[in-house]
Amino acid sequence: MLKYRLLFLLIFFKTSFHAMGEEGMWLPQLLKQLNEQDMQSLGMKMSAEDIYSVNKSSLKDAIVSFNGGCTGEIISNEGLLLTNHHCGYGQIQSHSSVENDYLTDGFWAMSKDEELANENLFVTFIIRIEDVTDQMLAGLDALEGKALEDSISARMPSVKEKAVEGTHYEALIKPFFYGNKYYMFVTEKYEDVRLVGAPPSSIGKFGGDTDNWVWPRHTGDFSIFRVYSGPDGKPAKYSEDNIPLKPRHFLPVNIAGINEGDFSMVFGFPGRTQEYLTSYAVEALVDSINPARINIREEKLAIMKAEMDQSDKVRIQYASKYARVANYWKKWIGENRGLKISEAVKVKRVEEKAFQKWADKQGNEDYKNLLTNLEKANNGLTPYEVPLQYMREAIFGIEAFRLSLGLDAKSDASIAKFFKDYNRPTDQMMMKAMLKTFDENVADEYKPEEFQKLKSKFKGDYGKLTDYLFEKSKLTTEKEALAIKSNPKKLDKDPVYTLANAFYGLFKNSIVPEIEQRRIEIDQLQKLYVKGLIEMSPEKKFYPDANSTMRVSYGLIDGNEPEDGVKYTFQTTLEGIIRKNESGNPDFAMPEKLRKLYDEKDYGEYGIGDKMPVCFLASNHTTGGNSGSPIIDANGNLIGLNFDRTWQSTMSDVMYNAEICRNIGVDIRYILFIVDKFAGATHLIEEMNIVKERPMIPLEASKTAEQEALIEE
Ligand code: ARG
Ligand code: ASP
Repeated sequence: MLKYRLLFLLIFFKTSFHAMGEEGMWLPQLLKQLNEQDMQSLGMKMSAEDIYSVNKSSLKDAIVSFNGGCTGEIISNEGLLLTNHHCGYGQIQSHSSVENDYLTDGFWAMSKDEELANENLFVTFIIRIEDVTDQMLAGLDALEGKALEDSISARMPSVKEKAVEGTHYEALIKPFFYGNKYYMFVTEKYEDVRLVGAPPSSIGKFGGDTDNWVWPRHTGDFSIFRVYSGPDGKPAKYSEDNIPLKPRHFLPVNIAGINEGDFSMVFGFPGRTQEYLTSYAVEALVDSINPARINIREEKLAIMKAEMDQSDKVRIQYASKYARVANYWKKWIGENRGLKISEAVKVKRVEEKAFQKWADKQGNEDYKNLLTNLEKANNGLTPYEVPLQYMREAIFGIEAFRLSLGLDAKSDASIAKFFKDYNRPTDQMMMKAMLKTFDENVADEYKPEEFQKLKSKFKGDYGKLTDYLFEKSKLTTEKEALAIKSNPKKLDKDPVYTLANAFYGLFKNSIVPEIEQRRIEIDQLQKLYVKGLIEMSPEKKFYPDANSTMRVSYGLIDGNEPEDGVKYTFQTTLEGIIRKNESGNPDFAMPEKLRKLYDEKDYGEYGIGDKMPVCFLASNHTTGGNSGSPIIDANGNLIGLNFDRTWQSTMSDVMYNAEICRNIGVDIRYILFIVDKFAGATHLIEEMNIVKERPMIPLEASKTAEQEALIEE
């Protein structure tokens, strides 16, 4: 009994010490009002104004959205930008050839002339964020659903135009809390962004798919770019006359080292979370949606892998496709596992029960039937979810189908690009398997007539059916595809083209509208639900779901015990790279030069004694899109580069658990060690503002002996 009491107390202490600031992706302009105190109590030495200000330069001026999907940060007065290797992967790949294989060997521009320009790459700064809720919603109280959405969309252009009038800025307005709030982001976009450096994949992607979503981790997942402006400092298309960007702010780099319990924050552009889903939606996710996605991707991966194992050419062609499919396949497995273990549906039901109790009180009539309506609406959507996944993942996972859609509008260059990484036999195998799995898992009403006809023609033999399609179609080779792409007569006779479009037609006309209509209804109910949750707990602080807008997450440098008997210490070192390398798994190949540096313990000022730190864990609430985000210390210095979460954390997009969830970053000292000692790109280090500031230890943490011991280590 005593033991249990102790355990309870310990857990209570731990959560009361930890739980505060860790959940949440907060809007930078609201930190002062909502989070500043909390952040400072966790050890932060800055003010909210140091992080986000419209009047003076602040941390936010060093943070960019990188190419729309990742985050990057400026780390020198000459526009040097740091992001992940997996975020710059496409650019690194596009400059690579058999002779200059930058993916394998790495790339380092030893002077600015050697930096490589990138078509279509852009970064976006945030100039200011404004609450435009009133402008968006005033006078629209009577409207609902699509009518409301349309009215809001109609209002947006003039508000945006006014905000950026006479400037080169752009504006973006997005709904938050399901449309209870609207914020406008005034942005500045730079399009001349050049590749400066990337480690070999055996560092930047060390651990590959084996280690993806895994701790302990040893990936040096970084690449370096430089932002250029026109001679006047303003954004400009690529030109030789452009000059390195003079940023409003750049992050100093702190190499003094980190300790468990130190304050940390992540500043970036998280993509999408769904923290306010009801039990009904979570149940559908766990029981139907994720299993469908996982099954389909499992089949796809098996096919790709078998093909890649047989041929080096296919291995290279499909490496990046495989990695993309594998990434979320693995994530959904982890997410489902986590949601089941934490009994997310049950937890949500308990919350809903409390909500209903509150809704039944006098004065809360608006909410009385809300949960019943949400249940009904969600139940109406669920039957479409599985067909949707099979359409998206299986049918449109067939590459020849993808090529077919909108083919006449595709440029010759984009078709050539498609075929560069296309292996006909692989896609043929894929089509056989995908048609079969689609047919077996989806109700007949979602199957186009053309498909049913072919099926009966070949007596349900998907292999023969596919072979026939591939034989007859002109779309599976580049030359023929280019030849018929602008010939509607020929296209309409092409069996792959017609089948792809039949699937698409049914998808677009029978599945998407049904789903859209129900989603609008659910979102409207969710809007009321979140409003109710906020009203029900006026003392609680709420954060909006991630929606690819700028956010701050904060917490501590912190390991954890994510499972029974499993302890994750907060830091890994080069030692672990050597040990993993010994396994012989090719994902753990390492460069000779790195081994030599290890043997000689040649770590410069970046090591701690004979150890070289590599990655670390922190309790910052992050998601996809936070890759490349800076991990920042109590004083605003860069200490790490975010790139992943632990296996047990993958559920955090739906339900965050402060005990279980941890993000993973590369230690900035490892990055500098690779740049300096491994690559010899010392000139880049000289550009940076390197500081050695001992992080301030949060008061609470310094009280525990355990923390004290760790700090002394
Ligand atoms: N899981 C991380 C994220 O979602 C890293 C993905 C890239 N790494 C990989 N091995 N595929 O983006
Ligand atoms: N790896 C993710 C990204 O690329 C980050 C995450 O999901 O934790 O953004």
